[in-house]
Amino acid sequence: MDMKQAAMQRHSVRAYKDRPISAQAKAALEGRIAEINAKSGLHIQLVTDEPKAFDGFMAHYGKFSGVKNYIAMIGRADKDLQEKCGYYGEDLVLFAQTLGLNTCWVALTYRKITSAYSLERGEKLVLVIAIGYGAAQGAAHKNRPRTEVVSAPLNAPAWFEEGVDGALLAPTAMNQQKFRFIYNADGTVTARAGAGFYAKTDLGIAKYHFELFAGKQNFEWKQP
Ligand SMILES: Cc1cc2nc3c(=O)[nH]c(=O)nc-3n(C[C@H](O)[C@H](O)[C@H](O)COP(=O)(O)O)c2cc1C
Repeated sequence: MDMKQAAMQRHSVRAYKDRPISAQAKAALEGRIAEINAKSGLHIQLVTDEPKAFDGFMAHYGKFSGVKNYIAMIGRADKDLQEKCGYYGEDLVLFAQTLGLNTCWVALTYRKITSAYSLERGEKLVLVIAIGYGAAQGAAHKNRPRTEVVSAPLNAPAWFEEGVDGALLAPTAMNQQKFRFIYNADGTVTARAGAGFYAKTDLGIAKYHFELFAGKQNFEWKQP
């Protein structure tokens, strides 16, 4: 399975089997996290065999069960942190899917177990990604109408449309899909976060999907 297929097959999974992540998958994830941390400056950590974060009222209210592993999305608290966590976290989500694992981004419905991860001075835990072998594979989410997420002329290139289709597969907080992709007259693309809960993280996730489906070689981003 490649990363595009992973994006098509991925859905949020909240109920997990009582099965530890295999040693091979764990090593692959640790390797990918180390690469990302080295290039991004983030301090992402894989937490395994830690059931307490998803054991409380909030997690059960959020319909989580059997979560014993998660990825802690941590970095220096600056203005880009949320979007960066979205972008690199989604790389890990899709990579996990290629390893036969399931995931769910979680901003609210968990408890912070501070002994399970380490924070350097000035760092912050932004959110976590539950990970493990799902009891089922999840289901496709509903999409906003395309006109609400796109500004482009009718003759925008095919790669732009494919990028938007990819972005619409992305997970967003409460499935809000408040992002917008704009095709500029000079051939560049601008991505805007709407106003909303964790909208900047959503933007990072959606931009990752857009690049994957549009092809990075086809365009450049223009800042809003
Ligand atoms: C930034 C972010 C935060 C999220 N926080 C939670 C959460 O606290 N609890 C939860 O159950 N799901 C959470 N989700 C999962 C979304 O509800 C889910 O991605 C969305 O409904 C779309 O469904 P899909 O992921 O199956 O495509 C979050 C997703 C994102 C991207």
